[in-house]
Amino acid sequence: MTAIRAAVLRAPGRPPAIEQVELAAPRDSEIVVRIEAAGVCHSDYHYMTGDLTAPLPLVLGHEGAGIVEELGPRASGRIRVGDRVALLWRPRCGVCEACVSGNPVLCELGKVQAATGGLPDGTSRLSLPVDSGGAADGTALHHLMGVSCFAEKVVVNENAAVVVPDGVPPEVAAISACAVITGVGAVLNVVEFAAGRPLLVIGAGGVGLSAVMGAALTGAHPVIVVDVDDRKLELARELGAAIAINGRETDATAAVLAATGGRGVDWAIEAIGRPATLRQALDCTAAGGAVVAVGLGSADTEFAVPLNQLVQRQKRVIGSLYGSSNPPIDLPRIFQLYLAGRLPIDRLLGERLPLDEVAAAYEHLVSGAVGRGILVP
Ligand code: APR
Ligand code: ZN
Ligand code: ZN
Repeated sequence: MTAIRAAVLRAPGRPPAIEQVELAAPRDSEIVVRIEAAGVCHSDYHYMTGDLTAPLPLVLGHEGAGIVEELGPRASGRIRVGDRVALLWRPRCGVCEACVSGNPVLCELGKVQAATGGLPDGTSRLSLPVDSGGAADGTALHHLMGVSCFAEKVVVNENAAVVVPDGVPPEVAAISACAVITGVGAVLNVVEFAAGRPLLVIGAGGVGLSAVMGAALTGAHPVIVVDVDDRKLELARELGAAIAINGRETDATAAVLAATGGRGVDWAIEAIGRPATLRQALDCTAAGGAVVAVGLGSADTEFAVPLNQLVQRQKRVIGSLYGSSNPPIDLPRIFQLYLAGRLPIDRLLGERLPLDEVAAAYEHLVSGAVGRGILVP
């Protein structure tokens, strides 16, 4: 057991607090990673509010990178002590139906992690000291999405780590493993024939801005962005958006239709997770086009799809989790594009705060901080 500092969520509605927790030794093919940087992603906030639920209490954080410190007894050797790695919240087992059919985002291990609050084997390496409400058997603290990187160290399965090449800073590696792969992946893995066609992104947070970068990379034109914050829209322009619309000041649907000669866009990526903006994405889509739903809402969020848009206008709505990616292939692609200057991921970075200020970092996210916040243990 190692004592570490970590951001613990005890109950929804209560701000996360830094506590001393126990981290057990890695089992089997698990590894210990000392965290260098962790991204302030909106998904953790859904668990803080109770919009999404997971076994509690848990250690927050799922967008992280660090240095490998120790290997479990049956680690493969593919990852070595001293390697810098980015952490994946959806490891792949390689043998379930989803993995074998090329859809590893839907790997069975994701369900095990979600149901148990554990690592892919369904058990936790985290526990609370008995004097802070921990159970005597030490099982009372859960992982979030198999990662829990708002902490000094993590134990993860080695299949949840991808080696980071030299030249990629830890904070870039961290956000690449969630926001960037989610947004860029939605474009590279879901959108087809983008070059020279209009593409809309609704929401210019870390995920939406990543989709803008991906859209610029594929040559989609014009790339149109809708947000409610002018500073985020300005950043979206810098990252390749040709048209930026403030949906609070303007009728965004009318503006998108006007910008596309009344036709609408071929692809509309919704990176917020709200019924109203999902419907806006659909209304902005041309006949035969598609909405790619990327944002997570609360578990009971629904949105209405008029049948005539679905059938007569033959529009599609496609869900995309984690960029519909295959992270062991897609994350190295993203790192190479970053190193080649084709994906300016560092431009997405916002404020940098010590881990102790996790609650403030989320207040800033919700009140509109521009760029992806980074927590440093
Ligand atoms: N219209 C347009 N933009 C909006 C609206 C709206 N009605 N409401 C919010 N936004 C913008 C915010 O201004 C912000 O720029 O949506 C953006 C959301 O960004 P973040 O809070 O940074 O969220 P992010 O981490 O990018 O995640 C987006 O994807 O993975 C999921 O759980 C995640 O649901 C979240 C979504
Ligand atoms: Zn995330
Ligand atoms: Zn699998």
